[in-house]
Amino acid sequence: MARSDRIRWDRRYADPSSRVHKDGPDALLVRHTPPAQPGSRALELACGLGHNAIWLAEQGYTVDAFDISLTALRQARAAMLARGVRGVNFVAADLDHFVLPPYPYDLICVFRFLDRSLFPAIRERVRPGGVVIYQTLNTGHLVQHPDTDPERVLQHGELPAYFPGWIVLEAADLDHLSLFAARKPLD
Ligand SMILES: C[S@@+](CC[C@H](N)C(=O)[O-])C[C@H]1O[C@@H](n2cnc3c(N)ncnc32)[C@H](O)[C@@H]1O
Repeated sequence: MARSDRIRWDRRYADPSSRVHKDGPDALLVRHTPPAQPGSRALELACGLGHNAIWLAEQGYTVDAFDISLTALRQARAAMLARGVRGVNFVAADLDHFVLPPYPYDLICVFRFLDRSLFPAIRERVRPGGVVIYQTLNTGHLVQHPDTDPERVLQHGELPAYFPGWIVLEAADLDHLSLFAARKPLD
């Protein structure tokens, strides 16, 4: 990711009129998040304003949440503290070059972001029995937005192909979005 992209995202998050997600957790996450146990850990990649990470912390998870935009992370941290929550570790990271922490996570989620090079690490970092929850744009988005970088949108059926042998909880390719949730087998 070029520095210019970070600047672009910072600008977007600094603009109160920009259309960035600010509301509560995504429904896909709510549907498939297992009840947290003591010590449960979650990871969110490209967390933006942190709405999902904060919700996970409210459910009892200790959360690592990464994003390239410091402007977004500052707002996310303020939103977390305003809700009286402490459980999210917001970290500024360029996921193009960042090595994910070595912990086994009980849950890894990604919303509205795609970097295919991360799939091997995501597969590896989910502990056996843990879940991956992923939702982002697919090629249907290109119909109305042909200027979108095709590398940033999924092909239909692509997400399940990255998780062979996992127990699929939900998988759908909608008009613009693909949704996927799956549990890693216990071996
Ligand atoms: C469309 S927003 C989605 C944010 C959040 N997941 C949501 O659903 O609201 C994409 C996010 O990816 C982040 N991002 C883009 N490139 C990144 C990179 N190389 N490393 C980390 N974060 C990145 C942006 O800062 C932005 O917050």
